[in-house]
Amino acid sequence: SPLSQDELKKIAAYKAVEFVESGMVVGLGTGSTAKHAVDRIGELLQQGVLTNIVGIPTSLKTQEHACACNIPLSDIETHPVIDLAIDGADEVDPDMNLVKGRGGALLREKMIEIASKQFVVIVDESKVVEYIGRSGLAMPVEIVPFCWKFTLGKLELLFEEAGCVGKLRTYDENGEIFVTDNKNYTIDLYFKKSIGDLRIASDAILRIPGVVDHGLFIDMATTVIVAGEQGVTVKNK
Ligand code: A5P
Repeated sequence: SPLSQDELKKIAAYKAVEFVESGMVVGLGTGSTAKHAVDRIGELLQQGVLTNIVGIPTSLKTQEHACACNIPLSDIETHPVIDLAIDGADEVDPDMNLVKGRGGALLREKMIEIASKQFVVIVDESKVVEYIGRSGLAMPVEIVPFCWKFTLGKLELLFEEAGCVGKLRTYDENGEIFVTDNKNYTIDLYFKKSIGDLRIASDAILRIPGVVDHGLFIDMATTVIVAGEQGVTVKNK
């Protein structure tokens, strides 16, 4: 029988953990795929296969989970250089550019993954796209809460030609506003067309006052591991 999406996520995650060596400082990603990697690192520490690992969690949720897995934790103030980070993604393009943040953790993820010598992205094949935005899923932008409708308007205007519509993220249909680990809000951007050059788009978003950061992770991944029905592929930069 075909493997479930969660089984594929687990296969990709376990493959990534093969790159973890004893003594490493390891960035721990957020989301349902990265969770399998955290579980696996915890298991290998417990078995004594891995020793002397320091985990750097990319969200409060991952911090809690990694703590429950007995992984010793630290932060990027104490460990400004990370040997290897493992995290999922919402979209991966042929140049290994990513969209992240559907799980709401993009800022800490970006701070930690930029500080990582190796950044291993783990996905099931459904996340692989021809170009960023192809999946039709949201591109998240973390913004400060102050006058958020103003910032939303600026973002929509910036991508007017791509038919951009922005939505303030809420926890559910009842409309309680989703608050990030950094006490910010998230705007999910939806596009009708391609946003074009990613670097230009990234710079333009970051120039809008009120924007904290966005879910485009350009030129950051060093390895992408894709698990599919036909097996696992490992692509290096
Ligand atoms: C967290 O904010 C995200 O960047 C996740 O890493 C990404 O959305 C992938 O999550 P899943 O593995 O749950 O799909």
